[in-house]
Amino acid sequence: MVPKQENTFRSKDKEVRKTNDSSILSKASVEKCGYPGFDKNHSYYRPFISKTPRRSPSVNRGYWTRCIAIRFAIEQFLEKKRGKPKAIVNLGAGYDPLALQLLNSLSDRSTEDIAFYDVDYPESIENRVSMILSDDFLRGIVYRNSFEIDELEEIHTNNYHTVGCNLKDLDLLQKKLEECGLDFKTSSILFISEVAAVYMPVNASDSLLQWMSQFSDAHSCFLEQIAPAGFNHPFAKVMIRHFKEWGTPLHGLAAYQNLEALKYRWVNLGWEHVEVFDVCTFWNFLLSERYRVECEQTEPFDEWEEFYFFLQHYSIQHASSTLDQMYNLVEHPNPFMQYYRYQINGHECSPVQCESILSNKRIELTMVAAEIKQALPSCRSAGVGASENGIIIQGGLSTSGRTNSAFLITEKQNVIDISSSEISPRMNLSIVPVNNGDYMLIGGRESPVRAFDTCYLYSKGAWKQTASLPYPAFRVSTTKVHYGNENFILLQAGKPHGGWLIWSEQTNEWSQVCCTEPSLTKSWGSSIHYSSQLQYGFITGGMNQHNLPIDDVWEWKLEKRNNRFELHFSPWNLSEGSKVLLARVNSNLAILDNDNAMPLIIGGAGLYKTIKWEEEVIIINMVGQQIENVPLEEPESRPVLVSCQCCCLRDLLFVFGGGCICFSFGSFINENVHCLKVSEK
Ligand SMILES: C[S@@+](CC[C@H](N)C(=O)[O-])C[C@H]1O[C@@H](n2cnc3c(N)ncnc32)[C@H](O)[C@@H]1O
Repeated sequence: MVPKQENTFRSKDKEVRKTNDSSILSKASVEKCGYPGFDKNHSYYRPFISKTPRRSPSVNRGYWTRCIAIRFAIEQFLEKKRGKPKAIVNLGAGYDPLALQLLNSLSDRSTEDIAFYDVDYPESIENRVSMILSDDFLRGIVYRNSFEIDELEEIHTNNYHTVGCNLKDLDLLQKKLEECGLDFKTSSILFISEVAAVYMPVNASDSLLQWMSQFSDAHSCFLEQIAPAGFNHPFAKVMIRHFKEWGTPLHGLAAYQNLEALKYRWVNLGWEHVEVFDVCTFWNFLLSERYRVECEQTEPFDEWEEFYFFLQHYSIQHASSTLDQMYNLVEHPNPFMQYYRYQINGHECSPVQCESILSNKRIELTMVAAEIKQALPSCRSAGVGASENGIIIQGGLSTSGRTNSAFLITEKQNVIDISSSEISPRMNLSIVPVNNGDYMLIGGRESPVRAFDTCYLYSKGAWKQTASLPYPAFRVSTTKVHYGNENFILLQAGKPHGGWLIWSEQTNEWSQVCCTEPSLTKSWGSSIHYSSQLQYGFITGGMNQHNLPIDDVWEWKLEKRNNRFELHFSPWNLSEGSKVLLARVNSNLAILDNDNAMPLIIGGAGLYKTIKWEEEVIIINMVGQQIENVPLEEPESRPVLVSCQCCCLRDLLFVFGGGCICFSFGSFINENVHCLKVSEK
């Protein structure tokens, strides 16, 4: 009889082995959707699964990025000429056909000195082998070289080996790899582990790292979860809970929470050169332009906030055992990367810190109970506008889909249902107060490929359609502008076409605005604001036309030439620490007490790093051209400040709805209303 404790280990291992099932299914979905770098003629994944599911666009994109990041690391390793055999050992390979993909894409000549070793539990390897052997295509790749089967449990060829071994048993692992012909003394070895070692008890994975470090030309690339903004960040919370519920807790993450901790881990376990960075750094700075463009073309996508959370909750850990053999994945680090480098000779890098901004405090915000008289449905990506007549909330994505419900919250916080069936359900729309206490609803979308050009005016208790946009637009940014003696709405037209538009209250017409700054012509997801006191505006945050972060503040002036409006921009001179905090997409902009030269920027998804709770709200000081921090008392259960809508009523800042789908781990939906009281410091 198996002793009880061993039994428990076995069943825990079984749960861990099962994590491979969802991984292989998701990667199969990526392949099926035709993401770049995946073979369009043959399926490498089909032999391992019975049916290919179709995952959501953001899960596909996440898994694709994961695969491409690992391939990038392998390519860097293979590129280095070392004049000796190269070994790529995949620790916890599951059914991942990566080695076979690479073997097939490299020419026979270039595989001469390269061998791949796929390691996993014996049970998983046994299944893997039988699935490879029963598929003509995969068997053909393996057969291309000499072929022998060890009792039908393992494959061993000149350059491909499967190794069934528990990674906790390092003596056996070494013995088995040596039996496969891996000469640890004369080979250059890359150990990869894609979301695998993180499931091992920490003492076992520490021993694994230490064991690897003893080889004179050893390198690593581990891709694992991190919690960059702490375990209390909603995305981290949902991710950690998911793995716990599946009986596969992320032991590695519990012990090594963030990039800095991981850097010290590798250093302390014997590695002379270490670089660790998040997958967001890979996405923003290392992913090739060609791949980026092809990825955008693969399937419609508009889940940017949650995708950036995903990117920032995964790390790439690359180390070399000795400085003599080291190489970098990141050749030219810059302060905007979440990137740490350690070398035993003292050459270190770390990301820019934002402390100077965080020490600059003018007001503070405290969470208080909202006194709104009626519960509102909790929605993401609705439209919200505030004027002296109250706050209007319209549309958004509720738990039962896109909605067209609309509510007016009066100054006394009474709620009036003002929904109209004339307006089709939509999200990512904009609502702007216009003159006489009216509000304008602008654009929005049904799906990312079905955007609206329609606009509606809410006036005297009813909605009526008004002048449409010249073309459809969602994720727009708007501000009211006073020019000459007229009132206008200036609009950055967001997705899908970009550009700038202006609506005249006098003529009730939209017209195009010439943008004189090329990098802002097709930008989207920014915060824009015009100060009537100062008679100029600013724009900050968002993404450029290549969907890469904008981290500047640009001051703008509106001018009319030859009967056409033009926008003229000049950038502020900001510190790197300020820019890191400003690089966020779809933040909210709110104005306190009509002091419209000091608007608040609230939440949004950080594009270089996950925004910590104390960094969520910042003031843009338009006169001083600087960024100031607004301290926030951290509530026990913090909301996530993405896809929410914020606005101020007197000294209260309201946050409506919001939430995110946390990759494939579950979702985090905010309670419908949060209220923050503003007080002077
Ligand atoms: C989430 S799957 C990832 C599989 C593959 N790396 C991928 O990304 O598609 C984790 C893999 O690590 C393997 N693994 C975890 N702990 C292991 C251990 N102690 N020994 C062998 N394999 C292990 C599991 O069996 C599983 O196949």
